[in-house]
Amino acid sequence: MKKIPAAALLGIAGFMLISQSAQVRHTNPPAKGDFAASPEINSLLRRACYDCHSNETRWPWYSYVAPVSWLIARDVESGRRGLNFSEWGSYYPSTRRRKLQWIDRVLRERTMPPWSYVMLHRGAGLTEEDLVALEHWIKSEISGQPQQN
Ligand code: HEC
Repeated sequence: MKKIPAAALLGIAGFMLISQSAQVRHTNPPAKGDFAASPEINSLLRRACYDCHSNETRWPWYSYVAPVSWLIARDVESGRRGLNFSEWGSYYPSTRRRKLQWIDRVLRERTMPPWSYVMLHRGAGLTEEDLVALEHWIKSEISGQPQQN
């Protein structure tokens, strides 16, 4: 094993130390509009998606340690912006329908939840059965949405 020069280690330690002063905000704003689904679908989405797509993020301890905290905060922020289950009830029906179609796509393409998240949260992975249940829910939700508006 090659030795790492002490100066490099000091540099890294210094960076870690200084970066702690740039703390991100760990917000969980109040929910706007309830999300209504069966308990099964609810718990699937909570398990696999809520940390980034709701205002009920469970902030892990490492989300307080820079620079990891910056990456996590960015994921949560852009995740919530694209899809937020805590604001589901306040979306227009047309928006809801579009988001359902997006959800359908990311599930088919297996891009959500992100693999890096599943690595750290083993319980967040979706089984074939889970995916079938979600597909079923999406289909019935989309057909239940008014076509106008
Ligand atoms: C670790 C955080 C994280 C988790 C967990 C996660 N997502 Fe995402 N998701 C993101 C981020 C960040 C984006 C936006 C950036 C991008 O498109 O890559 C996103 C984008 C999306 C989009 C697209 C929205 C758009 O603007 O196009 C959908 C749909 C989506 N996620 C659905 C889900 C579903 C469904 C789950 C659970 C099965 C899930 N995500 C789990 C972080 C996450």
